[in-house]
Amino acid sequence: MEKGVFVTGSDTGVGKTVIAGAIAAVIKAHGLDVGVMKPIASGAKEIEGKLVSEDALYLKKIIDSTDDDDLVNPILLKLPIAPTMAASNTGVPIDIDKILEAYEELTNKHDFVVVEGIGGLMVPIDDTLFVADLVLKMNLPLVIVSSDYLGTINHTLLTVEYAKSRNIRIKGIVINMLKSGDDIVREIEKYSSAPILGTITFKENISVEDCVYGEIVEDFRREINVSKIMRN
Ligand SMILES: Nc1ncnc2c1ncn2[C@@H]1O[C@H](COP(=O)(O)OP(=O)(O)OP(=O)(O)O)[C@@H](O)[C@H]1O
Ligand SMILES: [Mg+2]
Repeated sequence: MEKGVFVTGSDTGVGKTVIAGAIAAVIKAHGLDVGVMKPIASGAKEIEGKLVSEDALYLKKIIDSTDDDDLVNPILLKLPIAPTMAASNTGVPIDIDKILEAYEELTNKHDFVVVEGIGGLMVPIDDTLFVADLVLKMNLPLVIVSSDYLGTINHTLLTVEYAKSRNIRIKGIVINMLKSGDDIVREIEKYSSAPILGTITFKENISVEDCVYGEIVEDFRREINVSKIMRN
């Protein structure tokens, strides 16, 4: 069995948190002890005087995680901009060792860890590392989330090809927020050298911001074969 999965996206805002949460919850329902991680979050929210990551909160809630916030989200940046830009604003560079130590602790503690990426694979983390380098350091396979928007074919195919050029394993693609038929799915399938794991339609009752997930876990379980993500 894999020790986890890294959920990346064709872009920001495509549904990485929603899909990562659904993967974690479905694997938990299979009887495994699951952990979640959002290594770097930018755009912190203030709740009761404490800065928190909305993504980390959502991911923790969907699996009832009791892990410390610092472990789930070791790097929290206040400004909602690219991580290196948000970090340079604070004057403190992103501490990659802190991320990897938290990741190791989570993998020791849990059977399977679902890690949500930051934006896409070529988001810089510091002067030398991209998100893709973090994936390689964690030695995890990818699930690539894309969604139904103009530009998604290009972004999704570029993500697949870049992952392959870095020798990152790809479990497959989840096309999220599908609105109008499945033409986009057929196009991506036709040109992609990575498989499509399944699709999730746009649903009114999902909101990461409000920490509500509707029936996403049941829908995900019905639409997507999670054993392909769990198995080596
Ligand atoms: N299947 C869906 N149906 C309806 N709304 C969705 C669906 N998937 C995601 N959303 C909504 O779309 C928005 C973006 O989703 P999400 O936060 O999961 O994206 P992301 O890729 O994690 O973004 P970020 O790059 O900011 O981490 C959120 O408001 C979320 O609630
Ligand atoms: Mg997110």
